[in-house]
Order: sequence, then C-alpha cells, then structure tokens
Amino acid sequence: MMRQLAPSMLSADSLHLSDDVACVNRNADLFHLDVMDGVFVPNISFGFPIIEAIAKEAKLPMDVHLMIVHPEKYLERFSKTGASMISFHLEAAWAAEQDPAILLEQLRSYGVKAGLVINPDIPVEKLFPYLEHCDYVLIMSVFAGFGGQKFIEDTYGRIQTLKQEIDRRGLDCLIEVDGGVSVANVDRLAEVGAELFVAGSAYFKADDRDEFAKAIRGR
Ligand code: DX5
Ligand code: ZN
Repeated sequence: MMRQLAPSMLSADSLHLSDDVACVNRNADLFHLDVMDGVFVPNISFGFPIIEAIAKEAKLPMDVHLMIVHPEKYLERFSKTGASMISFHLEAAWAAEQDPAILLEQLRSYGVKAGLVINPDIPVEKLFPYLEHCDYVLIMSVFAGFGGQKFIEDTYGRIQTLKQEIDRRGLDCLIEVDGGVSVANVDRLAEVGAELFVAGSAYFKADDRDEFAKAIRGR
C-alpha cells in the first residue's frame, strides 16, 4: 500500500506561506487545507483567498477538509479553487439535513474526489451506507478544530473495522487519518489500513522535514 503525506497548512507559517508551500512541494504528496467556520468547530482558520493563493504555487493536489456547518452551500465554490479532493463532515450533513450520498456525488460531478469525515465520537459503521459514494474517508484521530492535539488510541481499531468493510465489499475507497499523526504511530496506522496521512505540527515543527516526510511515506 502506498503511504502518502498531506501536511496540514494550518500549522504553516502564515507570513511566509510561500516558503512552506515550496517545502511541501519538495517532500510530500498533497496539501491538506483545513477550513473552519467557528460554528461547526470552535476555531476559525482560512477560506478562499488563502486556498487560491496556495493553488498558484502548489505542484501537488490540494485536499480540502471542510469543518463548516453548511457544506452543501460551498462545495461548488471550493471545487473551483482547483482542489482535487474535498471532504465534509457526516455530522455537518446530518445537522443540515442533507443526504451525504447526494453531496458526495455532487463533488464527483465537479471532477473532485469526494470524501466523508467523522470525528472520534461517531461510530465508523455510520460511514458504511455511503462508502460507494466515497473516493476516500477521513477518520479524525483528534476532535476537529485545532492542530497539535494528542492522538486518540481508539483510532487503530476504528480504521481496522472500516478497512475490513471496504475490502469485504471490494470498494475503491482510501482511508485518510488526521490528528496527532507522527513517526510514532504511522506504521501501525498503515498496518490497519490508512494510506493518506495528515500531519500538521509534527511536520512543520520537525527538525528535518525531509526526514520526517521519508519516515511517514516509508520511501
Ligand atoms: C484538526 C485538523 C487537522 C490538524 C492536524 O481539526 O483537521 O488537519 O491541522 O494537526 P496535527 O497534525 O498537529 O494534529
Ligand atoms: Zn484536517
């Protein structure tokens, strides 16, 4: 299985974004872009201007993680930023009384890979009815909202259960993991079935980001 690293730009240096974009271009696989609205999560990050600025210099696909209350209102606009992957939270779709399957297919119709995200308190089984509509699922290993939180150990079992279901049904759906990912947990996460690894603080604070990237990617 291919291990891909998606540095979370939430932990990048906002005043010198260009340098951090160049660094990710050099040693990672994707740009992970966390959009927070201060309502779905108790934090506000960034939106269209920053994503569009990064898009100009990004040589790797952009992976947008929406932590917003009304994803249905913004899917089209985010797809126009040049993002290759867009995910929204299942909890947000429920609260907005939106059918997740319809939103996922909407993303696909825009030519974007469609992802569904859940926080650590949502059973992974809740994703099962939508797996056919997902190009990837994003399992939060911390509660969405902030970088630099501690990895929740339950995540291994959750990913394993999800991976077994994906394989049993012969689906083509990747598993991404986000929150507290580090050199210490990446091998076990890969063993249970994760392939896309988001890393914010561990990547940007690493003494040697190239070495960190090698350790996460396994190559
Ligand atoms: C949290 C975000 C993450 C965050 C990860 O809500 O979705 O992408 O930036 O940061 P670390 O790797 O520091 O936990
Ligand atoms: Zn994220």
